[in-house]
Amino acid sequence: MEQKKGSQLEQLKLHYGDVVEVNIESTGFEGKSVARVEGFVVFVEGAVEGDVVKAKILKTKKKYAEAKVVEVLKPSPKRIEPRCSYFGTCGGCKWQHVDYKAQLQFKQQHVVDAIERIGGMKDVPILPIVASDDIYFYRNKLEFSFSEKAWQVAPPPSPPQLGRGERGGADFALGFHVPQRWDKVLDVHECFLQSELSNGILNAVREFALANTIPAYSQETESGYFRNLVIREGKNTGDVMVNVVTFEDKPEIMAKLTAELTKKFPEITTVINNVNQRKSQVAVGDFEKVYHGEGIIHDKIGDKLFQISANSFFQTNTKQTEKLYSLAKEFAGLKPTDVVYDLYCGTGSIALYISDAAKQVIGIELVESSIINARMNAELNRVTNCEFIAGDLKEMLTKDVAWKERFSHPDVIIVDPPRSGMHPKAVEELGNLKVPAIVYVSCNPATLARDLQMLLTYGYAVEKVQPVDMFPHTYHIECVAKVVLK
Ligand SMILES: C[S@@+](CC[C@H](N)C(=O)[O-])C[C@H]1O[C@@H](n2cnc3c(N)ncnc32)[C@H](O)[C@@H]1O
Repeated sequence: MEQKKGSQLEQLKLHYGDVVEVNIESTGFEGKSVARVEGFVVFVEGAVEGDVVKAKILKTKKKYAEAKVVEVLKPSPKRIEPRCSYFGTCGGCKWQHVDYKAQLQFKQQHVVDAIERIGGMKDVPILPIVASDDIYFYRNKLEFSFSEKAWQVAPPPSPPQLGRGERGGADFALGFHVPQRWDKVLDVHECFLQSELSNGILNAVREFALANTIPAYSQETESGYFRNLVIREGKNTGDVMVNVVTFEDKPEIMAKLTAELTKKFPEITTVINNVNQRKSQVAVGDFEKVYHGEGIIHDKIGDKLFQISANSFFQTNTKQTEKLYSLAKEFAGLKPTDVVYDLYCGTGSIALYISDAAKQVIGIELVESSIINARMNAELNRVTNCEFIAGDLKEMLTKDVAWKERFSHPDVIIVDPPRSGMHPKAVEELGNLKVPAIVYVSCNPATLARDLQMLLTYGYAVEKVQPVDMFPHTYHIECVAKVVLK
């Protein structure tokens, strides 16, 4: 069969750089659209189901090819004009050219396909996706990069949504890395994901750097000053953090920048400088200095307050997180006598959110600093019935099990693993625990389907799956699934 496909590709003579005219048939994984050239599958970036496009072949494999739209010949009714002029180059919002209703349909179908095809479950109710109230300005955190190598943009081709090409080098940019070009940064003056205030701060920092001729850090020469600008907002508190990541510790520059920023934007509640003298391009410093305010901000989910420091994890869409957690709480169906495990608990936000409805919640998380944050947030909210333990979940369920003796057998387990899903041994242990209800919060329908299928073999049934859209204009989907012991 593979042989046949290989020869089919040869017969088709599809090569890198070829431009083919295709009808876009459907939406595939990771936001790419599916088309066929004489039956041979081509995954097309920048297209929408229903489009007729000219696409340039970028990669050929035995079983499929990858391509990018170069011209829209007949637009799909689901295609819209993207709001952002950087669309197609920036890579942050892959679906800004897709009508939001269609984005939701694609996400819903993606969950159905994953549950049916990967999980092999045909009769699981998949509830209609919960849309995001805000489709722009929904993020509470954006991380911009400085670079001495700007990705220069040519005037937009027609139609403008097809992206921009490189023209040649300037020596300062503040914005986002261009996909697959980690050495180059697109100079961004406006982004519709965080807030107008965040755009104002972004441009003020750029103007400050240029007016004072302070260079961006260069990884090549290991010199220069500015590395990253991270803006975090407490969407429910109004707090604003500006975190400037630099290569060197230069208090005179930071003091001047802080004075200018806080004068122009009195909304800023704290300004921090993370100093990173390593070559690695991470926005986490070797040390941190506070130039204004407390060095932290707060945000609220439900009635719980969370302290957020420059490097602590917090879900990036506050409003939708509240919906996600409220679904998790509803699906858990808690009684005041219930003991709950919150596995992969991060900074304890789910545990704290549900704590009022349960007798006790035990959170387990790999990252020690997150556990410290979780305990601090429990104290901040005067929550006394949550315990947080640091450790690798697989080990904590299979080998390092002494902690279990301190607590009663759980009545409900909530899991919220990373995109890779749960380790099979951890699923096995979950299966053996035989709790009446498991709530699985997932950011990857494929691994959700895989893990749910495994749980079925331990006598569980999947009662329902609820998709939630946390990230409009991206192909990412969250789900909450309720699993019960039969
Ligand atoms: C999707 S996040 C969930 C965080 C949290 N529930 C929330 O809503 O903010 C997944 C968490 O799993 C943690 N994690 C990853 N691998 C782990 C492991 N092997 N054992 C325990 N925790 C792990 C990560 O550090 C991360 O905090």
